[in-house]
Amino acid sequence: MKMTVYYYSGTGNSLWTAKAIAKFFENSKVINMTNEFVEEQSDIVGFVFPVHMWGVPHRVIEFVNKLNIKSSTFCFAVAVNAGQVSRTLIQFKSLLKKTGIRLSLGYDIKLPTNYIPWGGPGSKEEINKKIETSETRIENIINDIKNKTELKMQRGPLWQRILFTILYKLSFKQVPLMDKKFSVDEKCNECGICEKVCICNNITMENNKPVWNQKCEQCLACIQWCPTQAIQYGPKTINYERYHHPNIKLSEMILKKMNY
Ligand SMILES: Cc1cc2nc3c(=O)[nH]c(=O)nc-3n(C[C@H](O)[C@H](O)[C@H](O)COP(=O)(O)O)c2cc1C
Repeated sequence: MKMTVYYYSGTGNSLWTAKAIAKFFENSKVINMTNEFVEEQSDIVGFVFPVHMWGVPHRVIEFVNKLNIKSSTFCFAVAVNAGQVSRTLIQFKSLLKKTGIRLSLGYDIKLPTNYIPWGGPGSKEEINKKIETSETRIENIINDIKNKTELKMQRGPLWQRILFTILYKLSFKQVPLMDKKFSVDEKCNECGICEKVCICNNITMENNKPVWNQKCEQCLACIQWCPTQAIQYGPKTINYERYHHPNIKLSEMILKKMNY
C-alpha cells in the first residue's frame, strides 16, 4: 500500500509531523506542497499544514486546486497549530470536496507557536512537553489511518469558529502585503538564508540585504531561521525568542522538494 504525505511548513512543525506519521508506513514518502500540477496515484494521501489566521493557508488552497487523485484514495489531514484550530479542518474538507476528493480524517496537533508578532514559543521545557504530547497523539492517528476510519473533523469551540472565521475572511486578501512590517537590522551578516527558506520566492537580495516583495505567505520562515536574529517584524520582535522545530534541520527547509 503506497502512502504520500504532502506538507507545507514555515518553521518545521508540520514537516516534523508529516515525517513522524510517514515513518509508521513502509511504502511512504513526504513531499512539499508546490504550485505545480500533481497527479497522485498513492492509496493513502495525507495533508499536513499549519493553521494560519484560523484557517487554511493560501499555499495549501493553491496546491489542492492543482491536485488530481483517484476517488478511491483514503485521505487524511493534520492541521498543526498553537491552540486555535477553529474551523480549519472543516474548511479544508469542503475545499477538497469541491475537487471531488473525500477527506475521511482531520486532526489538530498542537505544537509551539511560531507566530512571533505575538510573542515567543515559551521555555525549552514547554516546547519539549508539547512535542512529547504530540508524539502520543500521532500514534492514535496512525491507528485510524491504518484502519481507514471515518471521523468528524476536529474543530475548535463554536465561538471560535464564528468569530475567527470572520477574521480569516477579512485578513485573507491582506496576507501578501503583510510583509511591509519586516525589516532587517545591523546584525544581518548577508548570508541569504532568508531568501533560501522563503517558500514563495518573495525575498530578493538587494545590496546583499533582504527585500520583501509583497507576495508573502506569512509563514515566518525568514524571521525564524535567520541565524543572527537580524530580521524584525514590527517593533516588538526584537524582544522575543526565535523558534523552529528542534528536530528539523535548515537543510530540510531549503531542499523543499526533497522526498523522504
Ligand atoms: C501567519 C500565522 C498565523 C497563525 N495563526 C494561527 C491560528 O489561527 N491558530 C493557531 O492555533 N496557530 C496559529 N499560528 C501558529 C502556527 O499554526 C503554529 O505555530 C504551527 O505549528 C506552525 O507550523 P510550521 O512550523 O509547520 O509552519 C499561526 C502562525 C502564523 C505564522
